[in-house]
Amino acid sequence: MIKREHWGTRIGLILAVAGNAIGLGNFLRFPVQAADNGGGAFMIPYMVSLLLLGIPLLWIEWALGRYGSKIGHGTAPAIFDSLWKSKIAKYVGVLGILLPLTVVVYYTYIESWTLIYSFFSLIAKLPSTPLTGDVSDYLKPFKEFLATIIGANSSHPLFYDVPWYTYLFFVITLLLNLYILYRGISGGIEKVARIAMPLIFIMAIILMIRVFTLTSPDGRNVLDGLGFLWNPDFSALTNPKVWLAAAGQVFFTLSVGFGAILTYASYLRPKDDIALNGLAGASVNEFAEVILGASIGIVASVIFFGVEATMQIAHEGAFNLGFMALPAIFANIPLGMFFGFLWFLLLFFAGITSSIALAQPAIAFLEDEFGLNRKKAVLILGIYLFLAAQIPIFIKGALDEMDFWAGTFGIVIFALLEAVVFFWIHDSEKAWKELTRDNDINIPSIFYYIMKYIAPGILIIILAAWSVEMLPAKLTQNSINVWIARGLILITGLVAIILVKKAWEKRRTING
Ligand code: ALA
Repeated sequence: MIKREHWGTRIGLILAVAGNAIGLGNFLRFPVQAADNGGGAFMIPYMVSLLLLGIPLLWIEWALGRYGSKIGHGTAPAIFDSLWKSKIAKYVGVLGILLPLTVVVYYTYIESWTLIYSFFSLIAKLPSTPLTGDVSDYLKPFKEFLATIIGANSSHPLFYDVPWYTYLFFVITLLLNLYILYRGISGGIEKVARIAMPLIFIMAIILMIRVFTLTSPDGRNVLDGLGFLWNPDFSALTNPKVWLAAAGQVFFTLSVGFGAILTYASYLRPKDDIALNGLAGASVNEFAEVILGASIGIVASVIFFGVEATMQIAHEGAFNLGFMALPAIFANIPLGMFFGFLWFLLLFFAGITSSIALAQPAIAFLEDEFGLNRKKAVLILGIYLFLAAQIPIFIKGALDEMDFWAGTFGIVIFALLEAVVFFWIHDSEKAWKELTRDNDINIPSIFYYIMKYIAPGILIIILAAWSVEMLPAKLTQNSINVWIARGLILITGLVAIILVKKAWEKRRTING
């Protein structure tokens, strides 16, 4: 068996883990979710979800990963198989490879848009628009610009008409990701995190300061923006939709439930700390999300367009705040070109440190279970990602469909499975012992009860509510477009199951 890699330094590990978590979710998804769900109304469910679901499940995923480092395997099939003496355990674990792989297919594509936008910003080719008329008037050129970039103007019911430069930027983005992965854990991922993370923070702080000094012609300023986000609205606490959105955002932003944290933690040494590392990564992520992420998108939009319009913008689409409202604002301030460039470059850096994390489980799987070297594993992954990405790039609606099944629904299911396998099927006492050993800080014992009862309980309620609220509508969508996206997920899952079967047959032969 090939010797497994390890993280080089502790600070490198924390930066890589923070890079895993800090991504498009912090700067694009969070402001949209918060604004669409009433700003202050969103923040209490968000904080509660962070404490009762996010942090405990994050620790569980870290513990499963560190356990993996002990047994020499960095993905869920082998880890579940070792903890759960059932033939199906390894197949259930396939989700821990399938989900991050599905997300990374469309995530890298969105990441490539941010590169296109930062380039176009730099050469002053983004649209400009005077802020007169109403919101839809001044966002119109940006809406059209995004439609051009992704080829959404095509009249064909199935295909986008993607321009060559979008495709080129995607290929560049994919190659960059693959190159970092090819350089390995400490030589690639950790090195990039050491450069990218400080840059992300510097860029975000510059943008935040600029946004905080904006004022609108009708007199709104930073206080209006912050007030929208931080004045709690207790009446929304009884609205299940807000709770679902908040919990979903916590999972997505922490990268919990993808299997990506698990794989990163498997490169710890078997006696390394997980409690402090996990908490440090989560804290850095939350700072980037609720302080920086929220302060840029939401505050700028509220200052320029007002609360009502900001909620409307967020409601109309996941990309409208980041790819339309912000560039429209930058087009109307001095040095806007530079700030636009900075904003999209920030998104690109945040994106790439997450996409490499989402791709790593597949690589770890090929290396750990088939003994492939890194070069071969990255090559296979590269070919898969390139081919699979043609679907979200060219098929209308495929990206949203993949995001729903993997990035929204799937991660909650997998997080629940992690908790259940560890605390219920394996053994809660042993799980707690595994979680709390060799750490630099103590995990308070209340978390035992949260991990065993409260978090899984809430997850089951969330899944039930989601199923009632969203599944019927989802399942009645039967266009060929959505079935192509579903087909990709199903076929990838099937191939992963076959590979797991083969790997275990190989194991049996070796072990006699
Ligand atoms: N946690 C990553 C993000 O926020 C996936 O984008």
